[in-house]
Amino acid sequence: MNNTTISSPGKLMLFGEHAVVYGKPCIVTAVDQRLTIHASILDEPIFKLHAPDVEINNSSKLLTHIGEGDLPNGAKFVEIAAKNFIEKYPHAIPEKKGISFETETQFKSTFGFGSSSASAVCTIKALSELFNPEMTEKDIFDLAYKTVLDIQGVGSGFDLAAAIYGRTLYFLTGGKKIESLIIKKLPLIIGYTGIKADTATIVKEVKVRFENKQTELNQIYDSIEKIVEQGKQAFQDNDLKKLGELMNQNQTLLEQLGVSTNKLSSMINASRNAGAYGAKLSGAGGGDCMIALAPENKRSQVEKAIENAGGKVLKVEVNAKGVN
Ligand code: PMV
Repeated sequence: MNNTTISSPGKLMLFGEHAVVYGKPCIVTAVDQRLTIHASILDEPIFKLHAPDVEINNSSKLLTHIGEGDLPNGAKFVEIAAKNFIEKYPHAIPEKKGISFETETQFKSTFGFGSSSASAVCTIKALSELFNPEMTEKDIFDLAYKTVLDIQGVGSGFDLAAAIYGRTLYFLTGGKKIESLIIKKLPLIIGYTGIKADTATIVKEVKVRFENKQTELNQIYDSIEKIVEQGKQAFQDNDLKKLGELMNQNQTLLEQLGVSTNKLSSMINASRNAGAYGAKLSGAGGGDCMIALAPENKRSQVEKAIENAGGKVLKVEVNAKGVN
């Protein structure tokens, strides 16, 4: 095989953000907006990357210099993922051969759907297909997780699990547990704030905000954990009303963490007032997206309410397939 095309889904956090960074579980669903990578083997030992969506146009360097220097943001996840693969499997790529990657996305990197994580996963999966087909999904997860920690310093890896395994997952920090949940129906409505949030910055801000209030912070994380466990059960029971209630409770705790914003809160409140079972922010907060769960007969009212509150409704399917 000389080339391969790999795609992986984006993600949305349903329950448990922030607490999952500190050893608690979360529930994440994969969304059917995908990132695609075309990878091919080159007959010279160079690393090529073309990722026009993130303004990387035909960049090229010797494979021996991969990961060196100040990398542009758009190139980091693919390049460091490839570097980690080469370091882990130093004999996998034959001598004098190189590799070229070209990425394409269906979603804007500003939505917070996890394009960076999806690109790390696609890169490692592509290298595995071309040079080391023995890698398991967990091997791919572990190498992608190392990549994220190398670049961001913090993160639970939940987004990588969604990109690899797809569907809806119960996930524990660092992939210590990754379980698929059976979802019958998940009538989610997704509202984008129009504001790009930086996850690593917000995670660090929470840490600083609670520097002298560790007990209070632990109580919030414990309460979030309980919500995640109840959420898992509510998915098993297909109890949408209960899921909505839990979303509202989770949102209250996220507000206590200080990660919601006026824009998020007004979109969330608008969707509740329009008949949603419940609503919350999804992800780190500070912007990105909110999600609402609503009965089918209230969907259009909830969508309108979100738009009236200044949000943009994104039409995406959830519970999508993993990397393929
Ligand atoms: O901002 P997002 O959608 O990447 O979600 C971040 C979720 C956190 O729990 C805050 C961080 C993490 O890595 O789990």
